[in-house]
Amino acid sequence: MNQTTQLLLNHRTVRRYTDKPLPDGLLEELIRCGQQASTSSNLQAYSIVHVVDPDRKKRMAELCADQLQIHQSAAFLAFCADLHRDRIAFDMHEGQRFDDEYVEALLIATVDAALVMQNVAVAAESHGLGICMIGAIRNNPIEVGALLELPDHVFAVSGFCIGYPDPENPTAIKPRLPTKAVLHRDRYLDDEAMKQHMVDYDQKLGIFYESQGMHDRDPRWTRVMSGRVGRFHQRADLDVFLKRQGYDWQS
Ligand SMILES: Cc1cc2nc3c(=O)[nH]c(=O)nc-3n(C[C@H](O)[C@H](O)[C@H](O)COP(=O)(O)O)c2cc1C
Repeated sequence: MNQTTQLLLNHRTVRRYTDKPLPDGLLEELIRCGQQASTSSNLQAYSIVHVVDPDRKKRMAELCADQLQIHQSAAFLAFCADLHRDRIAFDMHEGQRFDDEYVEALLIATVDAALVMQNVAVAAESHGLGICMIGAIRNNPIEVGALLELPDHVFAVSGFCIGYPDPENPTAIKPRLPTKAVLHRDRYLDDEAMKQHMVDYDQKLGIFYESQGMHDRDPRWTRVMSGRVGRFHQRADLDVFLKRQGYDWQS
């Protein structure tokens, strides 16, 4: 292991922060680290909105299930998929086709935004900061779009809190699935072998939650995920908003 891999393996989401602000220039450094991530065909199909104004930040928190870490964060960012700039380039050069009705357009911009966000996360953690990604920003995509005045082809993929971790509320490293369950060799693992890895993980995660004093009714990963996969419909407004923003892949 080296310092970088140690840093990566030390990741945990931090949801409680002190009120210490970020030093001048640090946010810009983190964003530059994000910008250096790989990007499909150099499209750089993402944008980041730093929500600075206290009223807007409060409203944003409300739209994101009012999670305390948003209020406490030293900086709250919205990482957005963004083909708007590329649309401007297209218009400048009177391009022939703008293929925004394909899933590929949506994926390119979403992957770009996610890669930038992860780079910013690692850079922040390397400075002793804690981060929490906020998928709840997709709970109310239409309202978030209005709040951030997002133009066509821009939508928020994830919110992002940064702050100095509160030492009174430390967080532990959450174990992951066995590597064998995610790293396949030559061909995809058969379901029986996969199931065994998942059952092993159920046990490991149960021990983790127990150690954290979280005595959930049934903390097995397989059980929790079996419920989670049935809740995507709760963000059906996202389909409506994406269509409105110009990502019209369903028609
Ligand atoms: C795109 C994305 C959205 C997330 N949204 C939230 C969120 O809204 N609130 C929250 O507390 N954690 C959120 N998380 C954090 C995950 O719950 C967390 O990464 C996961 O449980 C693994 O825990 P760890 O990061 O501590 O290892 C999000 C993570 C990702 C990648």
